[in-house]
Amino acid sequence: MKKIAILTSGGDAPGMNACVRACVRYAIYNGFEVYGVERGYVGLINDKLFLMNKRSVSDIIHRGGTILKTARCLEFKDIEYQKKAANILRSHGIENLIVIGGDGSFRGARDLSVNCGINVVCIPATIDNDLAYTDYTLGFDTAVNTVLSAINNLRDTMTSHDRVSLVEVMGRKCGDLALYATIGGGVEHCLVPEIPVDVKAICDAIKKSQSEGKTSNMIIMAEGVENKEQIIATIQQETGISIKITHLGHTQRGGSPSMADRLLAAKFGVRAVDLLINGQTNRTVGIVNNQIIDKDIIEAVSMKKQIDTKLHNIAQIISL
Ligand code: ADP
Ligand code: F6P
Repeated sequence: MKKIAILTSGGDAPGMNACVRACVRYAIYNGFEVYGVERGYVGLINDKLFLMNKRSVSDIIHRGGTILKTARCLEFKDIEYQKKAANILRSHGIENLIVIGGDGSFRGARDLSVNCGINVVCIPATIDNDLAYTDYTLGFDTAVNTVLSAINNLRDTMTSHDRVSLVEVMGRKCGDLALYATIGGGVEHCLVPEIPVDVKAICDAIKKSQSEGKTSNMIIMAEGVENKEQIIATIQQETGISIKITHLGHTQRGGSPSMADRLLAAKFGVRAVDLLINGQTNRTVGIVNNQIIDKDIIEAVSMKKQIDTKLHNIAQIISL
């Protein structure tokens, strides 16, 4: 019987479980035997594989995190460990692997395909939305909504006290989470790593808004922005305002996936299994202009993600 193994790797993202469920059930429907791998590449090199059935993925569609667990595995960058993983897969008669994760996980998958000949298909799942070849990654929509919910709460208290608040969000070197939350939350200032921060403009805008009677302002800062402390110190110094800072941290990675992420999880999972059925390998799935697409992994990881500067401009115009 044809066999497929599935693993989740790197930072977990809401929708990973829904995607595992879709892959498992669609693969079984198409006559595959399906194996789960525990803790990403760590489990792969330690032979932590287990047989899954349709009931193994019951009651998980609504859960954040990943039932397969996830991990970072530095050894996997070494070709000897990649070969070990390929041998373990082959010892179980498995030639097909679905990797659900971010760009680091994709590089591992690419190596397993190119260096060791395993049929690999990737599914993008990270709250960072930092993969250039796809408009959205799994988990991003839910994470933006989590940030929005926190912003709504902060707004209540900040407005009541006439305060200025700054919220730091995740995203590694990508500002998408910050930008989308800024638009969705009506936030006045959005600081992202891709666009130089104009501290003077922010100070001037805050001072002007206060002279016009606006008593509360919010700033979202992406984690990848450089000199964060310096920026905050300058704004406080120039405006004479004490800023209340909130780090949302890992709360952004948890939570029940949104409808958009559950739908994407199902579509990505089905395309991934279809690619393996058709003998296509070293490919990754994505969504572009609302169409599910697939692309060569090497090409996908070499593309450079860019921020939507027009959207960033609009955010400033409609929130100030
Ligand atoms: P993400 O997949 O969310 O980007 P990481 O960057 O931490 O998360 O990568 C997850 C795992 O992918 C790493 O722990 C490692 O096992 C594997 N990986 C990352 N980069 C490479 C690489 N250049 N070559 C092989 N494997 C890699
Ligand atoms: O890649 C997802 C992410 O949550 C990033 O936004 C963040 O920089 C990183 O992972 C945090 O990783 P860890 O959970 O290992 O601290």
